[in-house]
Amino acid sequence: MKFFIDTANLDQIREAQDLGILDGVTTNPSLMAKEGISGDENVFNHYKTICEIVDGDVSAEVIATDYEGMIKEGEYLASLHPQIVVKIPMIKDGIKAIKYFSSKGIKTNCTLIFSAGQALLAAKAGATYVSPFIGRLDDISTDGMNLIEEIRLIFDNYAYNTEILAASVRHTMHILQCAHIGADVMTGPLSAILGLLKHPLTDSGLAQFLADHAKVNA
Ligand code: G3P
Repeated sequence: MKFFIDTANLDQIREAQDLGILDGVTTNPSLMAKEGISGDENVFNHYKTICEIVDGDVSAEVIATDYEGMIKEGEYLASLHPQIVVKIPMIKDGIKAIKYFSSKGIKTNCTLIFSAGQALLAAKAGATYVSPFIGRLDDISTDGMNLIEEIRLIFDNYAYNTEILAASVRHTMHILQCAHIGADVMTGPLSAILGLLKHPLTDSGLAQFLADHAKVNA
């Protein structure tokens, strides 16, 4: 499973990259706003900086919601850096835009997926990634992980190349559950990724090893 980090925070992106396990980054307008990045030039430069830190795909979301606007914006975003993936919302014009970008060989990530039908449509249009939002489904008492399972089944039935990018991952267990089901990619916060490191028996075992070594080497 590929690991993407879901943030526009450069320190966190660097930390994940330094760990050596990072395959890409996803951003969205809310995450950019959270870092105080505003104004087109600043936003574009921020994407370029992220691409320079990470060796992998970097999703940059269009703001336009009409077909022509998404094409214009997406083509510009894609021209910023070869690692940019154009992130397109799951709306009717978005599907048309994904089809267009797919025919031009430009990678896309169809975002705000909340049903298997939406994922199927995006795959048919040629999306590189679909982003089902696990956490936001959990938030409304709907099991987000069931959606990942459903999409996995459908994509396997027809051998779609579109990758399932499990998004809105909130914690470490989400990552493990995605791995059980076979999501191709997960994107989550650094805290959820670092949570995979933790086990009390690792800590106590290491403390014991070091203490035993110190005893005989004192
Ligand atoms: O990858 C999508 C993500 O940014 C949404 O996450 O936690 O706002 O639902 P969240």
